[in-house]
Amino acid sequence: MKLLQRLPRGLQFNLRYLGTPPWDTGISPPELLGVIESVPAGRALDLGCGTGTNLVTLAEHGWAVTGVDLALLSVLKARRKLRRAGYSARIFQGDVTHALLPGQQFDLILDMGCFHNLSPEGRSRYRSNLARWLAPGGTYLVYAHRKRPDRAFHGVEEGDFEAFESFLRLAWRRDAGERRPDGGGGFPSVWARFTREETFF
Ligand SMILES: C[S@@+](CC[C@H](N)C(=O)[O-])C[C@H]1O[C@@H](n2cnc3c(N)ncnc32)[C@H](O)[C@@H]1O
Repeated sequence: MKLLQRLPRGLQFNLRYLGTPPWDTGISPPELLGVIESVPAGRALDLGCGTGTNLVTLAEHGWAVTGVDLALLSVLKARRKLRRAGYSARIFQGDVTHALLPGQQFDLILDMGCFHNLSPEGRSRYRSNLARWLAPGGTYLVYAHRKRPDRAFHGVEEGDFEAFESFLRLAWRRDAGERRPDGGGGFPSVWARFTREETFF
């Protein structure tokens, strides 16, 4: 196992944000833009928001944005990015598997590359949070690497989707290759859009 992978997750990500990690492209993906075009602006929450690129995009389209990330360094970069773009946002350091944001609900919850990092226990707590945070009629958009045999738990499997579908309705799901600015190959990955039906429960 590489030395970096032995460090606590928060520290691992903070170290990555000392530079510009490969996922930090500064560009919002068409999947998010498609969601933005299809639903009225409301309250959005970005889980594992990184340096805030998607928070800026959402704010530009009239959304009230909240971002949370484990890495303090990314939170500081995201706050600066939002400030420079002229938007106010609530962006804080926190673990998405913890009991954050009590009593708050969001019309859109975005996760690009956070859920697939979590342990099985963390995923279960994340789903409980998602069920509490996503408002009735709300949209959950997730991008995740698929599980590879050479990784202990990184990546998603069919069981993860089944667990989401126990309380969300799948709108669409699409295989995707990882997009890297250098054009290099990455993990096989997947996009999925879910809705929390008003009458689902
Ligand atoms: C692959 S990066 C993607 C960042 C951002 N969504 C983007 O697309 O640029 C994953 C992010 O999730 C954050 N993260 C990982 N585990 C987390 C957790 N348990 N709670 C909150 N954030 C977490 C990392 O610090 C990192 O910023």
